[in-house]
Amino acid sequence: MSACLPQLTALFHLSRELVLIQAGWLAGVPYWDAKQAIARHVLEDAYATEAILERLHELKATTAEHKQVADLEEWIADLAGGDDGDAWLRTLYGVLKPWFIARIEDYLSGSDPVMDEPSRSVLERVIETQRAHCSWFARFRPRFSAWETAHSDRRLEEVRSRLAGANLVEGRLVLTGGAARGVDWPRFSGIAAVRRDRTFLTPDKHSYPREGTTFAEKRFLVFWNHVQEMQFAESLATILHETREMPWAFHLDLARHMADEVRHAAMGQTRLEQLGVALTEVPMLTHNYAFRGNLDPLERFCLMTFVMEASSFERKRANVELFEAEGDEVSALYESYDIKDEMLHVNFGHLWVPVLLRVYHDARTIAELTEHCRAQIAQVITEYPAAAANMLKR
Ligand SMILES: [Fe+2]
Ligand SMILES: [Fe+2]
Repeated sequence: MSACLPQLTALFHLSRELVLIQAGWLAGVPYWDAKQAIARHVLEDAYATEAILERLHELKATTAEHKQVADLEEWIADLAGGDDGDAWLRTLYGVLKPWFIARIEDYLSGSDPVMDEPSRSVLERVIETQRAHCSWFARFRPRFSAWETAHSDRRLEEVRSRLAGANLVEGRLVLTGGAARGVDWPRFSGIAAVRRDRTFLTPDKHSYPREGTTFAEKRFLVFWNHVQEMQFAESLATILHETREMPWAFHLDLARHMADEVRHAAMGQTRLEQLGVALTEVPMLTHNYAFRGNLDPLERFCLMTFVMEASSFERKRANVELFEAEGDEVSALYESYDIKDEMLHVNFGHLWVPVLLRVYHDARTIAELTEHCRAQIAQVITEYPAAAANMLKR
């Protein structure tokens, strides 16, 4: 066991790094359908990471979460660098995830099949999940637009050669040959602006739809707003990537939160399509991401949970009533599921905002922080027309 524990600990850290970097890249991938798959993959990988940590705790490796694998974060940020979303997808699914599978297989070849069976069954499931992600990408063709860049063999070969010389040995990242060299592109440090398929309409912030008067117009606006939750998910994903100091349990909850918002956007998309409206016909908001990116992650999370989500229930319950009054049970069902998810998300705010304040040594009270975040919204109120009044309400 003594040899296996550092190795299993390193696999936990590798798995966590992959969760954080995939989330960090979400906004930079241009394809709507790839983002939907990535959100599922991040959540599945977060569950897998949690299962590995749970197993480490069973083995009494109680400090495993706090151990560091030296250079792992920077090394992965190098592999994920540059600003080419296509290159990132090819790196992640074509090379990095297969490398992760190989590291798990190394572990399995050295651990006892009987004594270590519980660890092995956790890791065998992780392999299955990773293989499913890789085969999704092997079949993936963007639904709404063509690939943005031509396939670059040179870049992929470079990444491959770095991975060929990289290994986890007794819990350490060991780099030999090409693996230790620098790369020709800048290290990954987050995505500044969201990307969308080239066929999508991304007008300026003044040309989005306004509140209508007919039922059809009101219903359209509800589900169009849900489609825009992709951008909300993209902002949450940046928090995942930028809060390395937080406990893993926060990242697990945030992965769920982020995946839920992508699902809400998919619910909006599905309902609009059922109503005869294609995604390519409706404007996509992209500017709130940059506004939120200017806030530090603590304020961003407080703004999103305590101000934006906490203030949404009155409006959403009114939507359910409207749909029921009009006999639109399908729309009412969509909105009811959404409300339940949002209740969970506001609970995440209650759970984690106090911890964020502690971890980042911020002396403000929750009330002061929330007030500050409300003031941020007030400055850009024109960007949130439908929800503005509720968000400013005390
Ligand atoms: Fe949502
Ligand atoms: Fe939410």
